[in-house]
Amino acid sequence: DLRGLAHKTGVRIGSAVAVDPLTAEADYRRVLRREFTSVTAENAMKWESVEPERGRYTWEGADAVVDFARHNRQAVRGHTLVWHNQLPAWLTEGTFTDEELRGILRDHITTQVRRYRGKVGSWDVVNEVFNEDGTLRSSLWLTRLGPGYIADAFRWAHKADPRAKLYVNDYNLEWIGPKSDAALELVKGLKAEGVPVHGVGFQGHLSLEYGFPGDFADNMRRFTALGLETAITEIDVRMHLPVTEEKLAAQADYYRQALSACLSVRRCAEFTVWGFTDRHSWIPGWFEGQGAACLFDEALNRKPAYHSLLALG
Ligand code: XIL
Repeated sequence: DLRGLAHKTGVRIGSAVAVDPLTAEADYRRVLRREFTSVTAENAMKWESVEPERGRYTWEGADAVVDFARHNRQAVRGHTLVWHNQLPAWLTEGTFTDEELRGILRDHITTQVRRYRGKVGSWDVVNEVFNEDGTLRSSLWLTRLGPGYIADAFRWAHKADPRAKLYVNDYNLEWIGPKSDAALELVKGLKAEGVPVHGVGFQGHLSLEYGFPGDFADNMRRFTALGLETAITEIDVRMHLPVTEEKLAAQADYYRQALSACLSVRRCAEFTVWGFTDRHSWIPGWFEGQGAACLFDEALNRKPAYHSLLALG
């Protein structure tokens, strides 16, 4: 199984976890526990989930994921502290001064990281802060706090748990290009200023439509050369439906190449899939006419992609 592969290779193999099936579906729990050495909450640690109203914290979902992981000796990846999406309405619609907003962000990061100190080994501190052209994405944080919010976020997170590995995480970072160049410059700059940044996460939301990023391993090595960890944090490989044998074979090849890239790079610490089963995947809801992006089908049967990963062991 994948757990065996993770132990053999020294790379954590993880999955995003949705709280509803974790609670309601025994077969979902069984596969999650059998196959994975790491878990990431798919939504339960996002701001709107943990603080839906100002000052009212709802940790039930996040705790359920962390408790499951502890019970099954799995690592936990924290996702995510600073993002422009899935923010609570009180925050996006509230009227705060810049100073108040800064305090709100600092308190959020401090509260959440402290709560899971020693339990969450790695945090996606900032998520999706770049545009495709490499400029910083316009967001509440950038507009109101300026680009320094990124360094601040890392410093606050580090203070709250000095042992946690702190990551920059983004999509379309797999290719060498303006976006990954910008990420490289950002982490270089942060390190030069002594900001506690430890890793870069490549989400890895791939599509058969766009081809496999052939320079993925070379790209990761640019970050390794700066002394950083890398991780594939949210991989899935979507296809236009219907599913065919050919598409499943091509998908298997993408997954295999992605894990090979990670295995070929020193300090690629983790390979996490964004959901392990087509029964619960965000793809059909977000990409019209697409789906079947995971390692297991809806009945939890292993797909060719699963076997292609095991073959790397
Ligand atoms: C997605 C979840 O999978 C969905 O359930 C939710 O509705 C929207 O967010 N990049 C990320 C993840 O960093 O947090 C996103 O997760 C997928 C894209």
